[in-house]
Amino acid sequence: MTNVRDALRSELRKEHDTLDRLMSGFDLTTATGLKRFLSSHWCAWDAMLRGKPGHRARAILTQRVEALRHDLAVFDHRPAPAGPLDAPDLAIAYVATGAQLGTEILRRAWQSASDARVRSASHFLSLPQVPGAWRALCEELAKIDADSRDGRAIVRGAKDIFDLFLSCTERELQRHETVRLD
Ligand code: HEM
Repeated sequence: MTNVRDALRSELRKEHDTLDRLMSGFDLTTATGLKRFLSSHWCAWDAMLRGKPGHRARAILTQRVEALRHDLAVFDHRPAPAGPLDAPDLAIAYVATGAQLGTEILRRAWQSASDARVRSASHFLSLPQVPGAWRALCEELAKIDADSRDGRAIVRGAKDIFDLFLSCTERELQRHETVRLD
C-alpha cells in the first residue's frame, strides 16, 4: 500500500520545486519583493478560506489570512482575490504546515532587511511553528491508503492548492508596475 504521506511527497515534488524557484525570486528585504510574496500567499490562503473549509482548516486559514491582511496594510495594498477553492482539511493542513518549513528559511532573509516598513510587516513571517505539528501530521497522513477515496481526495486537493499557489505567484511576477508603490 502506498500511503498518502508518501504519495504527497513524490507526486507533488515537481510543483513544489517550481513554486520554490518562483518564490525565491522575490527579494524579501525590499518593499516590492515582500509585498509580492505576501500578495501571492494572501491570494491562495484567502481563496481557500472562501471555499468550504472544515473546522480544522478554517482555523489554519483564518490565522494566515489575518496575518497577511495586517502585513499588506503596511503597504496599503489590497491584491485582487482568486476564485474560491475547496479542498479537504488534511490537504490544507499538509500544505500549510509544509509551507512553514520553507518559511523558516525565508524568515532569515527577511530579518536582514534594513527598511523599517519591511521589518514592520512581520505577522505572516513570524507565525509560530507548533512543535511536533509536522511530524504528527505526517504520521496521520501515513495511516491513510493513497488509493482509498479519502486518500485520492487529499492528494488531488493538495495538487489543486499547489496549482492555485502557482497561478497566484505567476500573477504577481507578471505584474508590471508603472508606478513605484514602495
Ligand atoms: C521560496 C519558497 C520556499 C522554499 C525555500 C521552501 C523550502 C522547503 C523546504 C526546505 C522543505 C523541506 C523541509 C524539510 O523536509 O525539513 C519544504 C517542504 C514543503 N514545502 Fe516548501 N518552500 C517554499 C515555498 C513553499 C510554498 C509557497 C508552499 C505552499 C504551497 C510550500 C509547501 C511545502 C510542503 C507541503 C512541504 C512538505 C513536502 C513534503 O515533505 O511532503 N513550500 N519547503
